Amino acid sequence: MSQSSLPVPRDVARVETKYRRIVTQFPVPESLPVLEKLDRYELRAMGGQPPVIWDRAEGFQVYDPYGNMWLDWSSGVLITNAGHGRKEIAGAIAAQAEHGLLTNYCFPSEIRARLCERFVELMPEPLKKIFLLTTGSETVEFAIKAARMHGREVGGPSKHVVVSYEKAFHGRTLGSQQAGGIPALKDWIGNLDPGFVQVPFPDGFWTRDTSFELFEKTLAEQGVAPSQVCAVMLETYQGGTAAFAPVDYVQQLRAWCDKNNVLLVFDEVQAAFGRCGKMWGFEHYGVVPDLTTWGKGISSSLPISAIVGRPDVMDLPVPGSASSTHTGNPICCAAALANLDVILNEDLAGNAARMGAILHEQLEALRAKFPDHIGAVRGKGLVAGVICVEPGAPEKPNGAFAHEVVWNCVEKGLLMFAPVGYMGSTVKICPPLTITEEALREGCTVLTETFAEVAAKRAAAV
Ligand SMILES: Cc1ncc(COP(=O)(O)O)c(C=O)c1O
Repeated sequence: MSQSSLPVPRDVARVETKYRRIVTQFPVPESLPVLEKLDRYELRAMGGQPPVIWDRAEGFQVYDPYGNMWLDWSSGVLITNAGHGRKEIAGAIAAQAEHGLLTNYCFPSEIRARLCERFVELMPEPLKKIFLLTTGSETVEFAIKAARMHGREVGGPSKHVVVSYEKAFHGRTLGSQQAGGIPALKDWIGNLDPGFVQVPFPDGFWTRDTSFELFEKTLAEQGVAPSQVCAVMLETYQGGTAAFAPVDYVQQLRAWCDKNNVLLVFDEVQAAFGRCGKMWGFEHYGVVPDLTTWGKGISSSLPISAIVGRPDVMDLPVPGSASSTHTGNPICCAAALANLDVILNEDLAGNAARMGAILHEQLEALRAKFPDHIGAVRGKGLVAGVICVEPGAPEKPNGAFAHEVVWNCVEKGLLMFAPVGYMGSTVKICPPLTITEEALREGCTVLTETFAEVAAKRAAAV
């Protein structure tokens, strides 16, 4: 029998600003029946987020049905790059639904053709073929499939190893989980495929050595020859920390892949569509991958994802052998087209760069204020990770501290999802790209106050 882990409502301070309003206990007593129903009927693995009942969301604010309003630093989970509830996107969804086509499987449709053309025309050479899917994990699965097919073609059956990174997250399906670098998440698999290996990610914090030599050395230590590798897959920044790799590391990796006929795959499920201050995250490195995956911010709303890549690789599966029931669903296509227009017309990548500069300056100041509790701050544009550590032991992740910071922020009307990364020690910040300077600064003030309160409470407890 599963045990109920429902929180008990308690008094919290009232908050009333332009961007935040908290006028009830937390969690809200009236919300308990909803929480109880989910607890009773849904698997417990779905739990773990702050108990905020999402009723509606607009711009960079989320509302519950009980009068509370949050300044959103989650974007759901980096979904709503164009902002929550965009009228342009909702309108496009409604218009497509009213037009009278809700689904068409892989039969051709004008709207799918239009979306494919728009996306591909935006991409640099040689990323000129696209496959629309539904989730990020599916795009990773297809990347693995295409990479193994390509490896077999250019190097025979032994060229099948997919190299990815320790602490990486690529999804929860069998292949994507094996490409992930978090051992606890793949315990259940039992017979791990030796054709997936991981090397340290050069984040400069958990892995101090950021040289490319570490990549080559680790592969050699694992007994993997370059001739056996079909692909190297990396998140543009690691989701668990928001850390980017050094530019020269990635440029050396690109050269290594070229030399060894290995595909370079950028998993941009979190990083694309302006999130990091450029339209595509890989632009930060001055390289172009062979395959790149998209999800989350692709529509700011409905489930749709895509993989874009080199035609010679994308076209390896024969006709009919790469498909999905909901590929290019017309309503999802309408949402993605409208989302793209909003992001480009409003230069949201530019806003992410401008607001990101302020955010990162504020977070560096936070780190300087709490050097015992914050090991590092990582990220670019409107994604940041604040890595919490044990006082006096910067190599030890402090998930409990990060958890308390997030929950206390939520009680003050600043919404974030539960901490991520190594032992849950990263407070992740990722507001919609439409956020204004005033709102961003207010969020930074709340975060700083909260760090001070949590640090003081912990100091008093020792
Ligand atoms: C980098 C990355 N790849 C893949 C995925 C999986 O995407 P989905 O949850 O849509 O399957 C995620 C999800 O968080 C992700 O962050």
